[in-house]
Amino acid sequence: MKAIVIHEFGGSDKLQLTDLPRPEPGPGEVLIRISHTSVNPVDWKIREGMLRSGMPHRFPLIPGWDAAGTVAALGDGVQGFAPGERVYAYCRKPEVQWGTYAEYVTMTASAVAKMPASLSFEQAAGIPLVGLTSWQALLGAAGLKAGQTVLIHAGAGGLGSMAIQLAKHVGATVVVTASSGNHDYVRSLGADHAIDYNQENFVDAVRAKFPQGVDVVYATVGGTVLDESYKVLKKGGMLVSVTGRPTQEDGDRWGVRVAYVFVAPNGGQLREIAALIDAGKVRPPAITVLALEQAAKAQDMNRTGKTRGKIVLSVG
Ligand SMILES: NC(=O)c1ccc[n+]([C@@H]2O[C@H](COP(=O)([O-])OP(=O)(O)OC[C@H]3O[C@@H](n4cnc5c(N)ncnc54)[C@H](OP(=O)(O)O)[C@@H]3O)[C@@H](O)[C@H]2O)c1
Repeated sequence: MKAIVIHEFGGSDKLQLTDLPRPEPGPGEVLIRISHTSVNPVDWKIREGMLRSGMPHRFPLIPGWDAAGTVAALGDGVQGFAPGERVYAYCRKPEVQWGTYAEYVTMTASAVAKMPASLSFEQAAGIPLVGLTSWQALLGAAGLKAGQTVLIHAGAGGLGSMAIQLAKHVGATVVVTASSGNHDYVRSLGADHAIDYNQENFVDAVRAKFPQGVDVVYATVGGTVLDESYKVLKKGGMLVSVTGRPTQEDGDRWGVRVAYVFVAPNGGQLREIAALIDAGKVRPPAITVLALEQAAKAQDMNRTGKTRGKIVLSVG
C-alpha cells in the first residue's frame, strides 16, 4: 500500500512516500481503507521526536492518527460493522508506528464508528482527534454545563472549531481567542465573544466582559497563555489543559480545579458526535485539502500555528 513514512526523527524532509505491505486485521480489529486523513500538531511533534519519552516509537513509522474511509475487512469476533461501510476513527495505538498517512490502517473495533452520513470523507477526516479531545476535555473533565461561561483558546484551530460548537450545544456562553481575521469564522461556529489576542491582553479583555471570571478555561495553548489563564477563572472554576500539565498546587494557589487530558480513542463518543452532525447541531471544521504526497508541506503549514480548522490529506 501507498504510505508516508519516516525512518528517523527529524524535519519534514524525512517524510517519504513508500510502498508497504497492507496490514491484516487481528482479532477484534477493523481494517479501514483510508480515503482521507488529517494533520494534527502531534504528527510533526512525533516526527521531531518530541513524544519519544512518553510512548514507544518504531521505524519505519507512518504518522497520522485520523482516518475516514470504508471498512475493507473485519478481524475475528468483530460485530456491528460490514465491509464497505463508511467509518471514521482516531487511530492511536499503544506503539507509534502504523498510522493513517497510508491507504490502510487497522484499529480496535471499539474505537471505530460509522461516520456522519451527511459528510464527505474529506470533511469527516478532520473530526476524530479534535472532536474527541474537545469532548473529553469540556464535557468530560470540565463537566461544562448550561449557563456556565467558558474561555476557549485558539478558537479557530482544530480543537477550537469543535470545542465552540460542543460548548454551545450544552448551553454555555463561549468566549474565544483568535486573530481578528478569524473572528467571522469563530462567530459562525457559535462563539459569543471573540478576543484578538494579538491586539489585547486576553486576561484584561475577559475580565472586562466577565468581572467575576469564567467557569472554565480550555487551554489549547501552553506556555504563558496557560500560566495567565488562572487569572480569568472564578474561584472554584476549572482549568482543563491539553498542552502543559497544570499541577493541583498551581490550582490551589488560585482557588481553582485543574485537569490535563490526553485524548483516548472512543468509538461511542464518535457516534455521538456523528449524531450531532447529522442532526445539524454541529458542523465540521473548515478544511484545506492537500494530496497525501504533500504531507511535508501540510505539516509545515500546520507547524506555523495558523491553521484555520483542519488540513486534510487526500489518500485517493
Ligand atoms: N492532549 C491532547 O490529547 C491533545 C489533543 C489535540 C491537540 N493537542 C494540542 O493542542 C494544541 C492545539 O491543537 P490544535 O489541533 O487545535 O492546533 P491547530 O489547529 O494547529 O491550532 C491553530 C490555531 O492556533 C491559534 N493560535 C496560535 N497561537 C495562539 C495564541 N497564542 N492564542 C490563541 N490562539 C492561538 C491560531 O489562531 P489564529 O490563526 O486565529 O491566530 C490557529 O487558528 C497543540 O499543541 C496540540 O498538540 C493536545
